[in-house]
Amino acid sequence: MVGNEKVEALPEEFDPKEIQGSIVVRSNGVEMVLGRNVHTMCLSIQEPEPNDEITGEREAYMASVLARYRKSLVERTQHHLGYPYNLDFDYGALVQLQHFSINNLGDPFIESNYGVHSRQFEVGVLDWFARLWELEKNEYWGYITNCGTEGNLHGILVGREVFPDGILYASRESHYSVFKAARMYRMECAQIETLISGEIDCTDFGAKLLLNKDKPAIVNVNIGTTVKGAVDDLDMVIKTLEDSGFKDRFYIHCDGALFGLMMPFVKRAPKVTFKKPIGSVSVSGHKFVGCPMPCGVQITRLKHINVFSRNVEYLASRDATIMGSRNGHGPIFLWYTLNRKGYRGIQKEVQKCLRNAHYLKGRLREAGISAMLNELSSTVVFERPKDEEFIRRWQLACQGNIAHVVVMPSVSIKKLNNFLKELVQERAIWYQNGYNKPPCVAAEIGKENCLCVMMHKN
Ligand SMILES: Cc1ncc(COP(=O)(O)O)c(C=O)c1O
Repeated sequence: MVGNEKVEALPEEFDPKEIQGSIVVRSNGVEMVLGRNVHTMCLSIQEPEPNDEITGEREAYMASVLARYRKSLVERTQHHLGYPYNLDFDYGALVQLQHFSINNLGDPFIESNYGVHSRQFEVGVLDWFARLWELEKNEYWGYITNCGTEGNLHGILVGREVFPDGILYASRESHYSVFKAARMYRMECAQIETLISGEIDCTDFGAKLLLNKDKPAIVNVNIGTTVKGAVDDLDMVIKTLEDSGFKDRFYIHCDGALFGLMMPFVKRAPKVTFKKPIGSVSVSGHKFVGCPMPCGVQITRLKHINVFSRNVEYLASRDATIMGSRNGHGPIFLWYTLNRKGYRGIQKEVQKCLRNAHYLKGRLREAGISAMLNELSSTVVFERPKDEEFIRRWQLACQGNIAHVVVMPSVSIKKLNNFLKELVQERAIWYQNGYNKPPCVAAEIGKENCLCVMMHKN
């Protein structure tokens, strides 16, 4: 029988105040803090007792678990700042579709025998993105992916199919999925140095290209790096390729997981467009748009896919995606938001995020905290808070001595003020005895942004 004590025992795993020790590991000589071991707090599946059905205790138990879980989600959402997810959306109108197993397996443009699909929404969304990135309807192909990672895996795979002996070039601040692709496809990969901003260093890129002149180049260009939100200069990357003798021997995949949807609405931003010689662009759908489940968009040139795909009789469709079954709900969520907001609504949200990011950076600096914000970005990078519990409470993403807040549409000034207030108060305690000092982050974000005790001279 599922007794009450089991129900009472559950909340601790959802209560952020009950922080257990973090796991610290060393990897390639670098110390890293990993999250807590979930196995110690997982919700086990318990076989129903014969009389559960009669007493309804099982139902009551599960309802109470879900209610507590929901409460914890509300709290965790209120205190989320570190990952680029827009947590503010209302998809109430789509609840009616939850009862259907919607699956878009196969090619979005060719119906399969499985009729419970949402291809009509998927292709509508793809058209919207193809228009945004300036590729004609009859010249593009794409699909709604599971996430930005899948977009990268697909874009790099298409590049590899176009140039089977190509070398993958990616800045060292590229997302880990890019290097995962290189490992999965056993591709030779050259890591390129970055500038302090996090942008690809085209001088180093040019030098590395010259070392491999005999092999075509497959290049990952970041439209927003993961940690610093840096936008690689696409025009400079193309010029470097052409000046190094790679004309018509390169494939560029633009990883726009983070800012792919924001950049088109930022004046002064380098334009991501298929009018330039790029092969593919991907973006995450759950980031700036906001979606209850991870999803993404991948757009490439139709001519590449015609080479890459295979017909599958069992589906009565074509296979050109990474996955088999594909989430058919994601496209409906994207369709719904884009219809509601349109280009103008998204533009307003982009402007709000950039304004709020400037506000946060300004307030951090006023408080004497080292901070950096790239011009085209809403990712505010600052000194890593000293306390792991604080990091966990605000769900900050950290790397070495730095942490960041990614200002998404759900990050309001009120939320930022709550965060700032707590950070300033706690920081005064962390450094009160004078032994501990805030870290120097000049190497990560530049001397001009570092306010450590060394008082760097520029
Ligand atoms: C630059 C970049 N590329 C790719 C990804 C992966 O996206 P996803 O988490 O949707 O797989 C991320 C995630 O933050 C990212 O920042």
